[in-house]
Amino acid sequence: MKGIILAGGKGSRLYPMTRAVSKPLIPIYDKPMVYYPLSVLLMAGIRDIMLITAPADCESYRRLLGDGSQFGIHVEYGVQPVARGIADAFLIAEEFIGGAPCCLVLGDNMFHGAQLEQLLRAAAVRTEGATVFGYPVKNPSAYGVVEFDAQGQVLSIEEKPEKPKSRYAVPGLYFYDGDAAKLAHTLQPSARGELEITALNELYLQQGRLHVELMARGMAWLDTGTPEGMLNAAQYVEAVQSRQGLYIACPEEIAWEQGFISDEEVAARGQELRMTEYGQYLLSLVK
Ligand code: DAU
Repeated sequence: MKGIILAGGKGSRLYPMTRAVSKPLIPIYDKPMVYYPLSVLLMAGIRDIMLITAPADCESYRRLLGDGSQFGIHVEYGVQPVARGIADAFLIAEEFIGGAPCCLVLGDNMFHGAQLEQLLRAAAVRTEGATVFGYPVKNPSAYGVVEFDAQGQVLSIEEKPEKPKSRYAVPGLYFYDGDAAKLAHTLQPSARGELEITALNELYLQQGRLHVELMARGMAWLDTGTPEGMLNAAQYVEAVQSRQGLYIACPEEIAWEQGFISDEEVAARGQELRMTEYGQYLLSLVK
């Protein structure tokens, strides 16, 4: 399975913070925001990843992630000249995907919880259709919203509805079979001029091939859409890490657990970063 991280757009809802820096490069506590969605892909067992950025930001991401070898993975870069919508990712990455199943994660979406790995693994092995997640929120109108019946059968999926049919928002994490790019080609821009990811999910729904998995109580899907949300997310990460002494979204650790990198590689990376707590954490993993 291939992975895409979508990290384009202008981030204008967070100006001036994001005027000169792409939003997913901004730190959440002790690491760049993009480490969190990257960790999700690694946890799903995905090693072949395309990161899509606005043209001006590509170099910065390359400086941060390189070719991915530090995590034992392959990272390549795609450019989105204009923010034409989330589903545009499949047109940009079409060649990279090459008809394989693919997981798309938004560069500003953060997840944490004991149930996460199991959810990701279950979605990654499904070879037919699409899988989205449902997460209960107080303000579903701000998101894609999924409605389903008692059997978990999806009834509708709508983008930012004024009158939401459920309180289940759809987070920016999607798994598709090999048809996503082909279907994305048939989409028309919405009223706001975007190729909507919700419209792609609706196509799967019409074909009876859209699955929804609920993220249970205790799973955190953290909001990074406002300065307050970012501060809360940083405080959450700090609280969990300092209490447990275990890191959230440390890609080297996840890559090591997955067998993508060796003890020696973790130690070398720890040495390189030894002046930081992050580096000391890496060293402690392989001591
Ligand atoms: O976060 C989950 C929500 O993300 C979903 O519930 C919605 O269904 C989905 O449409 C999306 O809603 P947002 O209004 O939050 O999307 P936004 O335009 O803020 O874009 C989300 C991220 O994707 C953001 O970091 C920028 C990036 N992006 C977005 C667009 C439209 C791109 O890189 N390129 C784009 O063309």
